[in-house]
Amino acid sequence: MVKRDAALHGVKDQVLKAPAYTLRTYDAKVKLNQNENPYDFPEDLKQETFRRFMARRWSRYPEFVPDSLRAQLAGYCGWEKEGILVGNGSNELLLAALLVLVREGTPVVIPSPSFQLYCLVSQILCARITAVPLKPDMGYDVDALLAAADEVSARVLILCSPNNPTGTELAQEDLGRILENFGGHVLLDEAYYEFSGRTGLQFMKRFPRLIVTRTFSKAMGMAGLRLGYLMANPGLASQIAKAKLPYNVNQFSLTAAQVALENLDRYRPAIESILKERDRLRMLLSGIPGVKVFPTGANFFLFELPVPPRGVFEELYRQGILIRDVSSYPMLSRCLRVTVGTPEENDLFIAALRRTLEPQQAAMP
Ligand SMILES: Cc1ncc(COP(=O)(O)O)c(C=O)c1O
Repeated sequence: MVKRDAALHGVKDQVLKAPAYTLRTYDAKVKLNQNENPYDFPEDLKQETFRRFMARRWSRYPEFVPDSLRAQLAGYCGWEKEGILVGNGSNELLLAALLVLVREGTPVVIPSPSFQLYCLVSQILCARITAVPLKPDMGYDVDALLAAADEVSARVLILCSPNNPTGTELAQEDLGRILENFGGHVLLDEAYYEFSGRTGLQFMKRFPRLIVTRTFSKAMGMAGLRLGYLMANPGLASQIAKAKLPYNVNQFSLTAAQVALENLDRYRPAIESILKERDRLRMLLSGIPGVKVFPTGANFFLFELPVPPRGVFEELYRQGILIRDVSSYPMLSRCLRVTVGTPEENDLFIAALRRTLEPQQAAMP
C-alpha cells in the first residue's frame, strides 16, 4: 500500500504508483532529443496562417467538428471523413481511445520497450497491463504478442510503428497476422508515418477493430502547435469522440494544419533531406568502432554503445549536443537515441560522439 498524506487522500493507487511522464528541459546548440523536424514550418506558410487567423474573431469558438480539415485529411490519407477525429496532439486521441476501451482490470498488451505514454495512461485507467519484450534485435515478437494476448484474454493491444524509441517497423504481414488472430481492439500509433511510408490503414475496412493515430508534430513541423488525428471505423470513431473534450483543438492550430495540407509539396524537400541524412547518419554511426545501430523506419536512431551510455550522454551535452538517454528503458541499458537533424547538426553530433568515445575506448582493457 502506498503511503498518502492528506492532500493525496483519494488519489487512485494506480496513479500514485505510476511514474510521471516528464522530460527535463535542457538548452543545447544542437537539439536532437525529441524526434522533431529540424526544418521549421515554412516562413511564408506561417504568414498565411497568421493572415487567416487575424481575419477571424478570436472571441468565437472554433467549429464544433472541424469538417473542412477532416475533409482535407480524408483526401491526404484515403480514409473516410466520418472516421477521422482531430486532436490536440495525437496523444490526446490515444487517451480518448483508451478512455472508451479500458475499464478497471481490462487486460491490455503493450510491447516493451515502446512509447511510455501507453503504459502510463493504461495504468491511470487501472488496466491490467502485460508487457511483451521485443526480440533482441528490437523486432516485434508477434508469436509472443499473440500468445500473451491469448493468455490474458486481452481486449486492447497497443502497437507503434515505427516504434519509439527503437525505430522498429511492424511488417504488413505481421500486422495482418495480429489482426486475424486477436479479437480485441488494436491501437496502432503511426506518429512517424511520413518517414516510413508504411501504414496499416489498408486493414481497417476488413478489421474494424483497428484504430490508427498520426501526428503533425514530426514530419509536418508542428510540434509546438499540437495537432494529431485518429482514423477508425466511423461508428467506433463517433464513440471515441464522446471522450474528447469539446473544442479540443484551438483555431490557430486548425488553421495551420489546413495551410500545411494545402501545401504538401512544400514538405517533401524537408522529408527527403531527412531520409537522405538518415542513410548518411546510419553509415557514420555504424562506422564508429563498438557502436551498434538498430534499423529504423523513423527520423531517429537507437544505438548501442560499448561503454555506459549515461556518461556519453552527459559529455555530448557538455559539448552542446542534446540527444536522448533511453538507458532506463527495459532492454536498452546500453543505448541512446538520436534524432536525424540537418547535415550540419548530424556532423556536429558524430564529431562529438567520436571525441567522446575515443578516450573511453582507449582506456578499455
Ligand atoms: C510514438 C509517438 N506517438 C505520439 C507522439 C506524440 O505525438 P503528439 O505530439 O501528436 O501528441 C510521439 C512523440 O514523440 C511519439 O513518439
